[in-house]
Amino acid sequence: MGRTVNIAEDIKAVLHFYQSLGFDRLPIKTVTSKELRVTSKKKNKSFEPRTPNSELSSSRVTRHASRDKEAALAALREEIGDCQRCKLSKGRKNIVFGEGNPGAVLMFIGEAPGREEDIQARPFVGDAGKLLTRLIEKMGFKREEVYIGNIVKCRPPQNREPEEDEIRTCLPFIQRQVEIISPKVIVSLGRISAQTLIGTKTPISRLRGGFYEYKGIPLMPTFHPAYLLRNPKDKWLVWEDAQRVMERLKDK
Ligand code: URA
Repeated sequence: MGRTVNIAEDIKAVLHFYQSLGFDRLPIKTVTSKELRVTSKKKNKSFEPRTPNSELSSSRVTRHASRDKEAALAALREEIGDCQRCKLSKGRKNIVFGEGNPGAVLMFIGEAPGREEDIQARPFVGDAGKLLTRLIEKMGFKREEVYIGNIVKCRPPQNREPEEDEIRTCLPFIQRQVEIISPKVIVSLGRISAQTLIGTKTPISRLRGGFYEYKGIPLMPTFHPAYLLRNPKDKWLVWEDAQRVMERLKDK
């Protein structure tokens, strides 16, 4: 009877976990009776009940920022100054440099600040940002333990996509942030970020789900959280990508 209660609690914890990620149904894969027989013959630890949290805490890796990295980022911010290098400077309120732990093992790179980010001068603080923060936490990190940046640092008018000349002008800065932080894994959020960092025109739907390399660092492209707000059913795919990232961090 005691075990029955534990199983029920485990199931409840798993359901709460998925619900808190915003899912309204479970990704149940149909298993044939043949597959079931083969699987159950294997002595497989995966049958041990695992709550999401125990999985996440084992993959959590953090390290402390060195003063050097902090200083190098501050120097870079100073170099950017009151940037007028491209036309985005005309309509922006603030430059959104990026934020987080300079010694982060995990770095997220989005596309460009939106309205709320432009006002607060902080990346991913609007609705998409709230979803990203939840994902980061479900991966076992606090938001301030990772680093979050964007391909371009100023808000494009009406939230349009950044144009090629704007990306070209701003790109050296996120490249330098990556060099300074030197994370163990990068997650690129959305088409623009993935295509820019990988140097391809392949659609994000084909890029996501597998690792690429960016200057020797494993890079996992995934969907942008703003896309997920419009297409919540694809949250599963992002969660799969996040799990691959957590596995990779465990290996490192
Ligand atoms: N979308 C992005 O790509 N970056 C942000 O900082 C906010 C929304």
